[in-house]
Amino acid sequence: MQHGGLLAGRNLMGQAAVRLDPFELYRERVIDGVNVCAIGDIGSSKSSILKTSGLYRQLILNRQIVAFDKKRQGGRGEYGVIADELGVPSVTFRAGGGGASLNLLDPAISTDGRHTGGVPGVVPAGQELLLLAVLRDAMERPLSQPEKAAVRLALSTVNARAAAAGTEPLLVDVAGQLLDGVSGKSEQALDYVRRGEDLPESVRADLGDFTYFGKRWAHRSLEWGVAPGLAILELVDGALRGLVDQPTSPEVHEALNHPFVHFDLSALPEQGPGLRVVMTTAQTWLANRLAARAADRKQTIAIFEEGWFLGEGSTGVVARGNMKLSRGLGLSTWSAFHHLSDHARDSPSRALMQESDIALLYRQGRDDDAREVCQMYHLPPETKDVLTQLHRGQCLVWMKGRDPILMQHVRSRIEADLTNTDNVLEGTT
Ligand SMILES: Nc1ncnc2c1ncn2[C@@H]1O[C@H](COP(=O)(O)OP(=O)(O)OP(=O)(O)O)[C@@H](O)[C@H]1O
Ligand SMILES: [Mg+2]
Repeated sequence: MQHGGLLAGRNLMGQAAVRLDPFELYRERVIDGVNVCAIGDIGSSKSSILKTSGLYRQLILNRQIVAFDKKRQGGRGEYGVIADELGVPSVTFRAGGGGASLNLLDPAISTDGRHTGGVPGVVPAGQELLLLAVLRDAMERPLSQPEKAAVRLALSTVNARAAAAGTEPLLVDVAGQLLDGVSGKSEQALDYVRRGEDLPESVRADLGDFTYFGKRWAHRSLEWGVAPGLAILELVDGALRGLVDQPTSPEVHEALNHPFVHFDLSALPEQGPGLRVVMTTAQTWLANRLAARAADRKQTIAIFEEGWFLGEGSTGVVARGNMKLSRGLGLSTWSAFHHLSDHARDSPSRALMQESDIALLYRQGRDDDAREVCQMYHLPPETKDVLTQLHRGQCLVWMKGRDPILMQHVRSRIEADLTNTDNVLEGTT
């Protein structure tokens, strides 16, 4: 028997101890990657395993844990009690501003995800990919080739300008650049275009588009930026306001100095793109930071409660791409999902579940949900009845190519207090 790593519970067939430590299991080549997902009904105790095996116990081995907390409990995110117990601050995001912000164009996220001196071959999403994904979701259609080119150019112009001025580039700057390159000059240029005249050199030089698009098409580029520019404005005035459109707040940087980082997203509305964009931006930001520090191979865990928000739409595709780099980044992502039927067949969230190296399969009360789980993980059909009859704290631990283990999750007294989410229903504190 192997004994390294962290304990999670007991094997209900024979009472042997069950280890659940992706980094250690990877080192022993039991699994090929380090991502974990928990799937099960509401209240089936998914969060409880994330908070213990994915967080509290990981601190013993000096790992850093970053939790994206979605569910409200007692007026704040459900991980608040753990942050308090560990004496670390919670970083709270609020729709419309007044909370923390994480700049979608934070300089820590490079334009294309590459970093000089970073981990060779490990390239997470960069600003460009992230912004194009956000725009695609917001515009509800793929961007045309000219629109993508206009966004790319505006982004690099804004980045260069901010770097020269020693400031952080912001989304609103990109919108401004797309809609009115150099204030006043684009209007002047449009007059020339309307009159069918060539633009004089003085106007061209200021617009900056000529060297990129060439003389033949540069004047048209003023039109290509309109739809994406307006979409960005709509986002920064609406769903993303105060969340990813401001310089990254000092409290976000400061939070990373602690072993546990608590991003409290529980005040964000579930409707609209806010939550999804914050999660994907934060995940990309984290991946870029890890990719940039090749020398410091600290093992990191990112917990995404409600993995659904991470795995939807075009931002979901970005998130999935980042998750595939887990081994190179030393980043293990733990996410929780309810039912497979909540996710479209070709959705990134299904792919996230399917590509996880460890799946913790909790109770599925409905037969068809349980059947789908069995199909996804190639379990014998009769396993369905096991899934429908699991009690709280029990799950099937699935790892690719191994027989699943029927596990009773075991918590210490302190952990039981920290993971109790029934106190609102029970009226206890
Ligand atoms: N190992 C365990 N043994 C017994 N009860 C447990 C165990 N783990 C958790 N519970 C209890 O089950 C309840 C629900 O747990 P938890 O909040 O983790 O569920 P969940 O699956 O995350 O729910 P949701 O889908 O609503 O997020 C908690 O109050 C907790 O105390
Ligand atoms: Mg939960």
